[in-house]
Amino acid sequence: MTINTNAPEYVKNQKLIQWVADIAALTKPDKIRWCDGSQAEYDEFCELLVSAGVFKRLNPAKRKNAFLALSDPDDVARVEDRTFICSANKDDAGPTNNWVEPSEMRATLQPLFDGCMRGRTMYVVPFSMGPIGSPIAHIGVELSDSPYVAINMRLMTRMGKAVIDQLGATGEFVPCIHTVGKPLVAGEKDVAWPNNKTKYIVHYPETREIWSFGSGYGGNALLGKKCFALRIASNMGRDQGWLAEHMLILGVTSPEGKKYHIAAAFPSACGKTNFSMMIPPKGFEGWKVTTVGDDIAWIKPRKDSVTGKTRLFAINPESGYFGVAPGTNRQTNPNCLDSLNQDVIFTNVGLTDDGDVWWEGLTDTPPAHLIDWQGKDWTPADGAAGRKAAHPNSRFTVAATNNPAVDPNWDNPEGVAIDAFLFGGRRSNTVPLVSEARDWVEGVYMAATMGSETTAAITGQVGVVRRDPFAMIAFAGYNMSDYFQHWLNIGSKLAAEGAVLPKIYCVNWFRKDENGRFVWPGFGENMRVLSWILGRAEGTAKGKETVFGICPEHADMHWNGLDYSTDKFEKAIMVAVDDWKSELKLHSELFEHLGERLPKELIEARSKIEKRLNA
Ligand code: OXD
Ligand code: MN
Repeated sequence: MTINTNAPEYVKNQKLIQWVADIAALTKPDKIRWCDGSQAEYDEFCELLVSAGVFKRLNPAKRKNAFLALSDPDDVARVEDRTFICSANKDDAGPTNNWVEPSEMRATLQPLFDGCMRGRTMYVVPFSMGPIGSPIAHIGVELSDSPYVAINMRLMTRMGKAVIDQLGATGEFVPCIHTVGKPLVAGEKDVAWPNNKTKYIVHYPETREIWSFGSGYGGNALLGKKCFALRIASNMGRDQGWLAEHMLILGVTSPEGKKYHIAAAFPSACGKTNFSMMIPPKGFEGWKVTTVGDDIAWIKPRKDSVTGKTRLFAINPESGYFGVAPGTNRQTNPNCLDSLNQDVIFTNVGLTDDGDVWWEGLTDTPPAHLIDWQGKDWTPADGAAGRKAAHPNSRFTVAATNNPAVDPNWDNPEGVAIDAFLFGGRRSNTVPLVSEARDWVEGVYMAATMGSETTAAITGQVGVVRRDPFAMIAFAGYNMSDYFQHWLNIGSKLAAEGAVLPKIYCVNWFRKDENGRFVWPGFGENMRVLSWILGRAEGTAKGKETVFGICPEHADMHWNGLDYSTDKFEKAIMVAVDDWKSELKLHSELFEHLGERLPKELIEARSKIEKRLNA
């Protein structure tokens, strides 16, 4: 049977048209709709979602052109146990990924995808990860039966006709297929967010394909984000000599007008969005922080046209933020709050009686009544009894251009040159506020052995420490040891070429004292740590050698505007020998788990720390 894909006349790429036809033949949608990315199309899909009962339009006097979606209660986070890296060889996926042999997975998926879009429209969503035409960007096309996905993709990526134009007749794209996994039977009421117990988030790294079945949640369904920009792109980066990382990118400008760029990796829901939008605190008048990206960085080496030296240039492949709502407020992230005044999609937050949204932490005093994320009445008494108004992983989707602190270069196709890499987990003990790696290998070691207490961004137990190397445990699309080796290779190759490599830092904003209270104030005060790091880059800031890198002493930090005693600082910065002896055992456990391919440089780096501990 020949399928009419309904492709607009501007689509010249026969491979794309053929692939759309093939997937339509398999999934059997009623209609095919090519998305052009226009505002009119966005508005049309929002109206469609309102009439389907998926969206509630918020009170325009409170938030203009903003909507609330409440998902199925079982579809609120990434499903790591249903996420698969189907490389030809099991060892290429490695021990940190779920693996199924590709032909076996294809055989499992075939009957699930057969007819899965019956009764629905298949949206063809062309998107560019990164500024269209940027030498760092790459293109994908997502086929999805969810209009919620189509409009979220319009906020999160450069989406629509311009991407098709860039693709031209012969351009390459990453094929991404998504279905909510429930055909719509005629006469049956549409359940736009079906409760689907069967979920598969599948990646074929060799053929660079993504197949996602049965979930509507962002990380599982907006396939440009984790699936392409991290899992598939990390494979591309390994093969092509670049990095795809779970990192925010920020710009920081000194009062003298000197600009630096920092890329920082933190696990999910550990404050990347807050850090990337930080407002410098009292005592840092004249400093400015601007956001290039809040979640993902694509980084390629290139000669700097000014200095002629090779540097690492980064873009944010996304064009919007899919951020965690709870905890966001005027104190923690004013720029973010100001980004959310209009043109936002909220998912799984509470709905107030005056048609606005609310989540835990937005205000000190909750509204007297609201409708919670499960559509039920909620009062502060329910809150006191432990029932949340907003799901802990409730989200907002908003375009980067809404951010008052967006960096002037956030959309620059050339990217920005990175001056320092930061790696940080959520650790109540052991790991100091900040520590500088003595060299690239020690930095890779710090990042590789990072641990963090788990959060609500993934299904499972919250608050247990798990090793999260480079904050990529869930996102490295190949063997983690090979990924470490790739970082080591990039470092040694670029150093041999005389490149200017960023210094590497380990940070921890989450340390607690003996009473369980955070010892570091965090948020805007993290600027003090940044300023020490910039001082190190300039050669003006001092530091002290420890068993785990170089740490500042109290006198090395800028304290204007904050009364922070040496005692308190000691608790935040301390590298205690006993703690580190125990910590090293955990590093060894990780290394054992990672197995034979672990680079020997990392074992040597561990031995050096051990020697220092025993000295
Ligand atoms: C995210 C995540 O949504 O890391 O960014 O889970
Ligand atoms: Mn993330």
